[in-house]
Amino acid sequence: MKLWGGRFKEGESKLMEDFNSSLSFDKKLYKQDINGSMAHVKMLAKCGILKVEEKDQILKGLTSILGDIEAGKMKIEGDYEDIHSFVETNLISRVGEVGKKLHTARSRNDQVAVDLRLYAKEKAMDLIETMEELQKVIVKLGEENNVIMPGYTHLQRAQVVTFKYYIMAYYNMLERDKKRVKSAIEIMDESPLGCCALAGTTYNTDRSFTANELGFKKPVDNFMDGVSDRDFAIELIGDCSIIMMHLSRLSEELILWSSKEFDFIQISDAYSTGSSIMPQKKNPDAAELIRGKTGRVYGDLVSLLTTMKGIPLAYNKDMQEDKERFFDALDTVLACLKVMTGMLSTLKVKGKNTLKAVKKGFLNATEAADYLVNKGMAFRDAHRIIGEIVIYCEEQGKAIEDLTLEQLKKFSSLFAEDIYSFIDYENTLNRGIKKEIKQ
Ligand code: ARG
Repeated sequence: MKLWGGRFKEGESKLMEDFNSSLSFDKKLYKQDINGSMAHVKMLAKCGILKVEEKDQILKGLTSILGDIEAGKMKIEGDYEDIHSFVETNLISRVGEVGKKLHTARSRNDQVAVDLRLYAKEKAMDLIETMEELQKVIVKLGEENNVIMPGYTHLQRAQVVTFKYYIMAYYNMLERDKKRVKSAIEIMDESPLGCCALAGTTYNTDRSFTANELGFKKPVDNFMDGVSDRDFAIELIGDCSIIMMHLSRLSEELILWSSKEFDFIQISDAYSTGSSIMPQKKNPDAAELIRGKTGRVYGDLVSLLTTMKGIPLAYNKDMQEDKERFFDALDTVLACLKVMTGMLSTLKVKGKNTLKAVKKGFLNATEAADYLVNKGMAFRDAHRIIGEIVIYCEEQGKAIEDLTLEQLKKFSSLFAEDIYSFIDYENTLNRGIKKEIKQ
């Protein structure tokens, strides 16, 4: 069932037909394809290229196809080259000869370009909404767990923070991710419909009308660019890659924190799995899968960048390879955002253990040095002295605040009774991150 048999004498080889067909994956675009066709046919009638009755018949046919697909009455399968051929062929069999007029002043090149942009815009909005859901859960988790925990550099205990402050770092990453996706929507918001194959059409069409019907800001400026631009897909997969990188870092934290070595959190049974051999095991599979799928989305990005890098203007069939990677990236990141949201909404934070880790980690050493500086010592000297105190504490199995004033004074005569309140964890938090917290 081909749309282009006229100039061919011989049939296509079955091997080539299968190789060429994109229906199995571009069927995802059925709604965008039908909506694009509806806007197109309305424009054709408005411009006097089709009669109003013809437009109405075609619209009726397209509406019934859309309805049947959505109701599950019509399966998108069979011997069709792609979703565009599927819709058009079925339209003709439903409404008869008039259906053949749909493709006037249009090519599959601008058709697929507009379908994909419509799909990208819709999914980009889903992404923003789904990120917002995750952000809400992050805020709640932080509010409910405003407990002290160690902050790390080099994965070594560094300074004291709170769980809330820690997790809100990821809220902020998602805030930037949303801005990036919004900006991608803004850039892609131009309609390629009406560019036709590459050089427009001699019919007097109205591209602003179709752009407006489909909710785009304006039509694209250049036809050749319009049909062969896939920047919007690459940009969105790029944004997805950054989102995945953030989710992957968070996953890594959750995996570490749920290990007995850290024991800071408990991931709920609903987001864990067991081992087939070791009965005691509870594995953080959800987090590991998110971390693993990050590579897959990066792969999608590199794949599409590579597909596009060497093709001359305008449309080339290479570009059919955009879809599976694009769909995969979007489906993957949406699924990962949802799983992360579920996992965080059921997560338990073990505040006692995070506090214990703070106490064992000399997390007030920097503040102890600041104390000496406040008493007039140069920071370098203070740094060295506190370093010596840490060695002493390690030998004694003690924290800095466990030392008596007498012991402290052996290291510096500047120590006085107020050292204990100065290096108290709550107090250091109040003087440090808490005064900066805006959220
Ligand atoms: N299935 C094609 C694609 O996804 C549709 C465009 C076909 N255009 C063409 N000139 N053969 O790229």
